[in-house]
Amino acid sequence: MAHPSIVILTGAGISAESGLGTFRDEGGLWAQHRIEDVATPEGFARDPQLVMDFYNTRRAQAVEATENAAHRALARLQADFDGDVLLVTQNVDSLHEKAGSTDVVHMHGALNSALCGACDHRWPAPLQMQVGDACPACGAPSARPDIVWFGEMPYHMDRIEAALSQADIFAAIGTSGNVYPAAGFVQLATYAGAKTVEMNLDPSMTVNLFEETRPGKASQTVPEWVESILNG
Ligand code: APR
Repeated sequence: MAHPSIVILTGAGISAESGLGTFRDEGGLWAQHRIEDVATPEGFARDPQLVMDFYNTRRAQAVEATENAAHRALARLQADFDGDVLLVTQNVDSLHEKAGSTDVVHMHGALNSALCGACDHRWPAPLQMQVGDACPACGAPSARPDIVWFGEMPYHMDRIEAALSQADIFAAIGTSGNVYPAAGFVQLATYAGAKTVEMNLDPSMTVNLFEETRPGKASQTVPEWVESILNG
């Protein structure tokens, strides 16, 4: 391939071995909280304190968490691959960055970012956000977590779709394939003629759309896959 390009999509499963909970596994976050209460604009309007507490807890856990071999392998791929690598994550933790990845595309936002509900200004989030925190740009008491909630548009979709249309390889890692548009990326990549591979502990909802599957824990499967790409 002249200038090969790889698009990678990660989900909560890549951070599971770093101790951060997934959403839909046994006892996952959506077994502990109702999505409509903590991950929708309506839930935030109804009970902003509950939502701030939910993300403050996850932010504190994420800050303490350490990246694992899967995150490190993807950082190595970005550094050593002789082509383009676009790393897209549904995760709101910063474990890819802690592993040395750069230009990570957080399509569902990030815990370390705050957003103004009035003027769309973004700034680094404090460890604990409070209801009514003022926006440093417009002064409105309308700070909210910079997280894409259900019913809101994921970020960077133009860039992601453009990359998928040119991809030679698409890899999905640690995601259950339940949530769109991310779950549809494999189809876009397939239309573009990309080779597709899923690395997941359990088969995802979209496993049958992938040419190749590498079942298992990401800390095992991802370093093996990266090795096969760099030295295959
Ligand atoms: N290694 C690899 N995969 C794993 C591991 C592991 N150690 N542990 C769990 N998994 C897999 C599970 O088999 C599951 O398919 O990770 C997947 C996690 O799925 P979800 O909990 O649904 O997380 P995700 O797919 O990232 O959710 C997508 O849903 O709620 C929204 O915005 C939220 O970004 C999230 C989106």
